[in-house]
Amino acid sequence: MRKARPSKTARKVALNVVTLGARAGMDEVLPPGLTDATAKLLVESGAVGGRAVRFSRSRMAVRIYLAFDWMMPGQFEAFGHRKAFCERQVRDAIGASAKQVLVLGAGYDTIGWRLAPEFPDVQFFEVDHPATARLKEKGIERMGACANLHLLAEDLGERELADVLQSNKAWDNASPTVFVAEGLLMYLPPEAVGALFRQCAAVSGEGSRIAFSYVGTRKNGRPDAGPWSWLVLSLLRVAGEPWLWSMQPEELDLFLQTHNWTVAPNLPLPSKRCGIEFFGVAVK
Ligand SMILES: C[S@@+](CC[C@H](N)C(=O)[O-])C[C@H]1O[C@@H](n2cnc3c(N)ncnc32)[C@H](O)[C@@H]1O
Repeated sequence: MRKARPSKTARKVALNVVTLGARAGMDEVLPPGLTDATAKLLVESGAVGGRAVRFSRSRMAVRIYLAFDWMMPGQFEAFGHRKAFCERQVRDAIGASAKQVLVLGAGYDTIGWRLAPEFPDVQFFEVDHPATARLKEKGIERMGACANLHLLAEDLGERELADVLQSNKAWDNASPTVFVAEGLLMYLPPEAVGALFRQCAAVSGEGSRIAFSYVGTRKNGRPDAGPWSWLVLSLLRVAGEPWLWSMQPEELDLFLQTHNWTVAPNLPLPSKRCGIEFFGVAVK
């Protein structure tokens, strides 16, 4: 990935979320306050101008997203379902004792900013590449930072997560933790994905869980981005954020076991893809 520049895909997801606020029926799916907070963060961080955000909230923007949905069928709304899925996991985990939340590759996600004041006894952490994290930090400061929200600017391809967290005094390896890896794993090299799961297990207490999304693998061994995979993968490569990792859902059990997690029991997950991604939850 082009590390010197803020992530384009993170900006795309955030703008997509803002437009979902203008999509009929999505108010029943999206967590309350999500679209307003995302719009505000994009502007306050300087990631996107006010005019672009205003346009993103229009019916015309909805029509444009729908017109281009053929490229990754269902993905326009799937980003909203993904946000709702991750937030449900975080809230459930906090309800069940989690004291730490770590959002990996957070981009312009606002879950930490929105939930930190609601759960003052929980420590919220986010990690992203420095170029994206610094921009976000500026936005969060302008929106009002919360003492229990910690933004970490690190490249997880260069520095091990365990090392990043050890140098943060607020992190506690013994605390039950909920990790979120939403729209991140496909951007990491295969060895980094396995290492990330192992390290998440190593730096968290009993009762921890990890919620994640991932893409499947095509017959040719390449990530499955839908019927226009070759086009989508080429566009991602040109944008400097290529997809490097994928996995078929049948491989999930073994993958998680190998990396010190197990599939969360009794969790109603969508059995099919949501847009072009699968969702997963694992427990220690
Ligand atoms: C598609 S965006 C998703 C952002 C966010 N999770 C969301 O769904 O709104 C992928 C994010 O992963 C981050 N990322 C990719 N590789 C990373 C790495 N090696 N270390 C830290 N962050 C990384 C990018 O900077 C970007 O913000």
